Formats: sequence, C-alpha cells, structure tokens
Amino acid sequence: MTQHWLSRNTRVDHNRPFGAAQRAVIDPDRVPDVGALLGDTHGPTPLQALPALAARFGVGEIRVKDESQRFGFGAFKALGGVFAVHQFIATHKDRAPGDIVFTTASSGNHGRSVALGAQSVGARCTIFLPKFTSAEKEAAIRAKGADVIRIDGDYDTAVAECRRQAAAKGWTVISDTSWDGYEDVPRDVMRGYTMLAKEIVTQWPAGPTHFFVQAGVGGLAAAVIGYLWAVMPTRPVSVIVEPQSADCWFQSNKAGRPTLASGAADTAMGGLACREISPLTWPVLGVGTDWFMTITEDQVMPARRLYAHPVNGDPAITSGPSGCAGLAGLTRICSDKAAFAMLGLDRNSRVLLINSEGNLGEGTV
Ligand SMILES: Cc1ncc(COP(=O)(O)O)c(C=O)c1O
Repeated sequence: MTQHWLSRNTRVDHNRPFGAAQRAVIDPDRVPDVGALLGDTHGPTPLQALPALAARFGVGEIRVKDESQRFGFGAFKALGGVFAVHQFIATHKDRAPGDIVFTTASSGNHGRSVALGAQSVGARCTIFLPKFTSAEKEAAIRAKGADVIRIDGDYDTAVAECRRQAAAKGWTVISDTSWDGYEDVPRDVMRGYTMLAKEIVTQWPAGPTHFFVQAGVGGLAAAVIGYLWAVMPTRPVSVIVEPQSADCWFQSNKAGRPTLASGAADTAMGGLACREISPLTWPVLGVGTDWFMTITEDQVMPARRLYAHPVNGDPAITSGPSGCAGLAGLTRICSDKAAFAMLGLDRNSRVLLINSEGNLGEGTV
C-alpha cells in the first residue's frame, strides 16, 4: 500500500551506473570553489548531528547540512547564482561586465544570489519577483544593488515575464530552471550547488543511507542526489519532498515524464512554490530518486520549531519555511509505521537533511 502522499519511483535501478546522460547534467569532477570567487573565508557550512532527534525517530543518525550558515548569505542559493554569473563573465571575455544586465525570476533567494554575483563582477541586475515574495527578501535584493520588478502572479508567471523582457531588452538570463534550448546556465547553477554535496562527503566519510531533500524545480536535489550517486560506493535511498500544492516532481514521477503540479503552488514554502520542474534535471532525478512525497502546510511550522528548539541537547538550527521542508518530510515518514518500513528505515539508518535557508524575515518560531 502506498499513501496518497508517498510514491515510489518504478524507474529506479540501484545497479544503474552514473552514466553519460547523468554526467552531462552533474559533473562530479568539476566542483567549483564559490567562496574563492567572492573572497569569502567562512569555509564549509557545518554538518550538524542530531542524536536526540535520531533516537526519538527510531533511526541511527540524523545529520543536517546547515546552509543557513552559507557565507554571510544564509541560503544554499548563494552557490548557484553567484557561480553562474562568474562563469558567464569568464566565458564572454568580449563583453564588458559594466554593459551586461543580468536578470532572473526568483522567489527570493536565487535572485539575491544573482544580484550578489552581478555586484561582485561590476554588472547591473534586474530581478523579477512573484507576488508572494516577502518585503524583507525584496529589500535584501535591492541592498545588493539590483532593481526589482514585481509581477502580479506566481513564480512561473515571473519566469515567463523575465524571459519576455530579457529577450526584448538584450538582458542576460541567469535562471535556475531550464527550458528547451536553455540549459547551459541552469547547469552552471547546479554546478555551484555541487560544492555543498562535496563538502558533505568530506565531512561524513560513512555517508548517509537515506537522504530527504526538498525540491522546487529540482536543481538542489539533482546536484546532491547526482553527486552522491556518482561518488558513493552505495548511493543512499533518496526522497524528494514538496509542498502538496506544488507537487510537480510528485506528478512527473507518476506520469513518467515532466508534468505540471496538481495545485496552484500557493504555499508558505516560497522556494518550493514551482508548478514546473527543470527538465534538464530529469536524467538524474527521473531515474535516480527513489521516492517522492508531499507535505502539508501545517507540517512546516512544527519542523521549523523542531530545528529551533531541539530535543535533549541537540544543536539549535535556524530555518525558513523552505529550509525545514526536508525535516517536515522525515517527520511525516517517521510518524507513519508503514511508510517508515517501506523506505527501509531502521535503527541503523543514517539520514541526511539539508537546511537550505535560514530565517530571512519569516517571523519567529
Ligand atoms: C530555501 C530553498 N530551498 C530549496 C529550494 C529548491 O531548490 P530547487 O528549485 O533547485 O529545487 C529553494 C529554491 O528557491 C530555496 O530557496
């Protein structure tokens, strides 16, 4: 029996090697050092162990890659947009940075990363934000010197408007999602994200047996699932977690091809509020993700609280609504005996989570 919110991927074969189709999306041998591009000296983000929570959930270990501590930025997105902007400059030497306008649609974090990248190379930047993005996130983007255009619609509408205006004005799109004929930049964005995956492998030699990762368009999930698949002797059982109303991966898995979400993506998890997957990621996630699950809106705040006010001496972790979604997914699985068993979880399991953002103006918990 499968719960309506949990779905197995029947295309997965754990004996399938990480082949050319996967390597064309995620290259484990070309992981950049994004901190060096920014002159940042923070070093790797911590991989926090939560032994008391692991005991409560009945698993062996839980470790959290805490991207709330990424540079001074507070989200893993700093790795992608910044790297893709620098890569564009490095491969377009004929263009003066001061003449380039970088642009993207974003629910907030990716736009801030592109703005930071543009600022660091001396280029201009315009970010398209959907209606729901908070005033704090908009202010943080403006503080990086970018202009902001508000769209009276959702994330996917902002993507369409960004593409339209960029084509008309000759702006350079640094998108984290891909579309037909537009893959190089989103591939660079994911290449930036592989940096966090490489850090995890260094920080945790035994590595995870299970990995819960939240997805919007799938860039983060593809970078980490792909990297772990490429380098680990036995790749972990992977689970993609999405908001119920923005379940584009859940639906795509069921259909066996990229498909729209079943809902309107009206979720507090702004970074995950996507109705369409990034098709570029399909060769990795479509055959390499073991399970897909959704969470409900009322499961978000308890997960944020669990990170902020941990059990019995575990370290406290600051998260935002999208940041804690992987933990919300794990909590849902661990509260359901049948689901727990289906995923092969037990007292020997080592679970990896990513806290993908800190609390960027999302209120107190
Ligand atoms: C905090 C946070 N977590 C997760 C994601 C999901 O990343 P992706 O769209 O690459 O799946 C995002 C995307 O904006 C995000 O901002």
